Amino acid sequence: MNQKEYWDNSTCKTFTAMLHLDQLSQYINKNDRILDVGCGYGRTLYELYNNNYKNLKGVDFSSKMIEKGKQLYPFLDLDVKKDKHLEFDNCSFDVIILSAVLTCIVDDNEQKYLIDEIFRVLKPSGILYVTDFLINYDERNLTRYELYKSKYNKYGVFETSDGAVLRHHNLSWIKELLNPFKILTFEEVTYDTMNGHTSNAFYCISKKPCF
Ligand SMILES: C[S@@+](CC[C@H](N)C(=O)[O-])C[C@H]1O[C@@H](n2cnc3c(N)ncnc32)[C@H](O)[C@@H]1O
Repeated sequence: MNQKEYWDNSTCKTFTAMLHLDQLSQYINKNDRILDVGCGYGRTLYELYNNNYKNLKGVDFSSKMIEKGKQLYPFLDLDVKKDKHLEFDNCSFDVIILSAVLTCIVDDNEQKYLIDEIFRVLKPSGILYVTDFLINYDERNLTRYELYKSKYNKYGVFETSDGAVLRHHNLSWIKELLNPFKILTFEEVTYDTMNGHTSNAFYCISKKPCF
């Protein structure tokens, strides 16, 4: 299944990756311009809104997710992301959120491209909050990683029975991906998943260097 189609058909799922706002709030200001890339139906932006962050923007490649977000939270500024690049000027956001989006992008180069785009649109000293899933070591996960390793040429990628292609990441890859940024906080955590299991995960708060 085409993955945009998959996410268009997944608007009833409840996403679970956490915004560790107790940590993030130490690095950001209430009037900061904040972009949520792959915002889904606006769950994280709504949490920020409820905490008095009001300069918010969300984009997602699924038009159905954006439609649902606009119904749920008509006061949020949400748009469909039409292309691979981010349709924003260089250095135009103070903060960018990337929550459980890398897991949807199985290819290293595509992940790198997105991170480069995020780097481009963040202001110098801007803050990037990333949270996503890590490799697990239980039987169910080890079996599916093995099963799909040759098809995707990548350990940690798997298909779900309802048509998603998802990736759990090596810690070393995440550190490499975030190399352009200065890491401020990095913590390994455990999340429930949208499919009712638990998974290893991380959240990372990092900063775009000010050259
Ligand atoms: C697991 S959901 C997480 C949604 C939201 N970030 C949250 O934490 O509630 C993943 C979202 O990423 C979106 N997505 C996946 N790949 C994307 C891409 N390449 N560009 C933009 N959005 C993408 C999907 O449409 C989906 O809404």
